[in-house]
Amino acid sequence: MILALTLIACGNGGGTDTSDTAHDHFDASTFFGDSCAGCHNADGSGGVDIGGTPSADLTTRVAAMTDDEIAAVLTDGKGNMPAQLSTDDEVEHMIEYLRETFP
Ligand code: HEC
Repeated sequence: MILALTLIACGNGGGTDTSDTAHDHFDASTFFGDSCAGCHNADGSGGVDIGGTPSADLTTRVAAMTDDEIAAVLTDGKGNMPAQLSTDDEVEHMIEYLRETFP
């Protein structure tokens, strides 16, 4: 079991009150580790069997998709991937994080 965590410290200290309004305190890196990594692996390599469908390899898919396409997957889900995010702000931050992490 290798946890190849690529935690990029933002240096902003993060928010302590996550129950506050989502904007400004949404930490895409933490969210990725908590929610996306379980299906896509911490390094984004994917290939995890999710109900018979392999999760996408983010290291290649992200670069091949437009922001709109990624946003649609994040808010609507796709196939066996359930919707993950609901607000534009969260989606924006997550796309930014994905673009930086999987260029
Ligand atoms: C329950 C497991 C699961 C979780 C959680 C999950 N995904 Fe997925 N994801 C999948 C599966 C399965 C696919 C393949 C869907 C398909 O093509 O049918 C996928 C596909 C994708 C794709 C490619 C879609 C395409 O059109 O090729 C992206 C990008 C993606 N996921 C990003 C994320 C991000 C970012 C998160 C966290 C916010 C996340 N996923 C959370 C299972 C998951």
